[in-house]
Amino acid sequence: MTRYLDICGVDDLAEPGAKEFEIENSRGQKWYGFLVKKDGAFHAYANACPHTGAMLNWGPDRFLTRAGDRIMCGVHGALFEIDTGLCVAGPCQGQSLRDLEVRVEDGRVQVLQPE
Ligand code: FES
Repeated sequence: MTRYLDICGVDDLAEPGAKEFEIENSRGQKWYGFLVKKDGAFHAYANACPHTGAMLNWGPDRFLTRAGDRIMCGVHGALFEIDTGLCVAGPCQGQSLRDLEVRVEDGRVQVLQPE
């Protein structure tokens, strides 16, 4: 069954900005992800680097480069496109973050519950 989970309000993120979240997948297991807001759009990915599976953030809600133009892994510095999750530099170049479908309903950002 398709189910969307509430994450935050549309104005809870800076622009550009990111926010980590913890949800349950459809089997009741913890699932760690993060949202990115850029150019008025939201993107959601699993908080797991394709290189080692480590969490990407280098501090609470810190996922972006200083310029705010890429997602950056805090472990070895891999860089990912915000809108596609594709790694464009670093040890996992050519691989992608696992994405989640995002929707906005009544000013709330929601993600499709992962399996
Ligand atoms: S764990 Fe992310 S680049 Fe190595």
